Amino acid sequence: MSMKFDSRDPQAAAFWSERFEKQFTPWDRGGVPQALQDFVARSPQPLATLIPGCGTGYEVAFLAEAGWDVTAIDFSEAAVAAARAATGKWADRILTADFFTFMPEHPPQLIYERAFLCALPPERWPAIVQRWSELLAPGALLAGFFYYDKTPKGPPFGAAEDELHRLLAPYFKRIEDAAVADSVPVFAQKERWQVWRRK
Ligand SMILES: C[S@@+](CC[C@H](N)C(=O)[O-])C[C@H]1O[C@@H](n2cnc3c(N)ncnc32)[C@H](O)[C@@H]1O
Repeated sequence: MSMKFDSRDPQAAAFWSERFEKQFTPWDRGGVPQALQDFVARSPQPLATLIPGCGTGYEVAFLAEAGWDVTAIDFSEAAVAAARAATGKWADRILTADFFTFMPEHPPQLIYERAFLCALPPERWPAIVQRWSELLAPGALLAGFFYYDKTPKGPPFGAAEDELHRLLAPYFKRIEDAAVADSVPVFAQKERWQVWRRK
């Protein structure tokens, strides 16, 4: 049986809330990806981290338990409710906010990306990259998962590698790029773990 949705615009919070409420969340990892766990394990110090579009936000409790100062935001109330339920005692680290207008109390040392860029259509990507570049000081990091695919329909909206490079290269230098072994089916073989340093 195929599912019917009222909201068709992924730029609207209602689109995402409807999918959380109907429990149609094929992007949801159900836990913390291994590459992030490895990144945290080898990081020389904890990093003040911002997670835009956190969804269920399993990473919040993981980072907080590791002693990292983490703030996660999502503009969907249903996503924030799911994240708070998944995050237990760290629930106050999750805020309802729109990434494009959110002003963090302190500049993040790391922005963690997973399934946020690919959630929005490519015409919004320059604005996302612009905001990343404004929020991160030189030397700060953008790290996470980047979805490469050729299909124009989404979400998820896949990028061509050179397209993503063109967008990021003016502001960031890529310092890590690795295959991902524990993807959910929708991203399998099509996502890379990457770390980009703000120039
Ligand atoms: C595909 S989900 C990914 C969720 C999560 N990052 C994960 O890995 O499971 C995209 C999320 O981005 C959120 N989102 C989309 N546009 C947003 C915006 N402008 N500001 C904040 N959150 C946004 C949606 O509400 C949704 O929860």
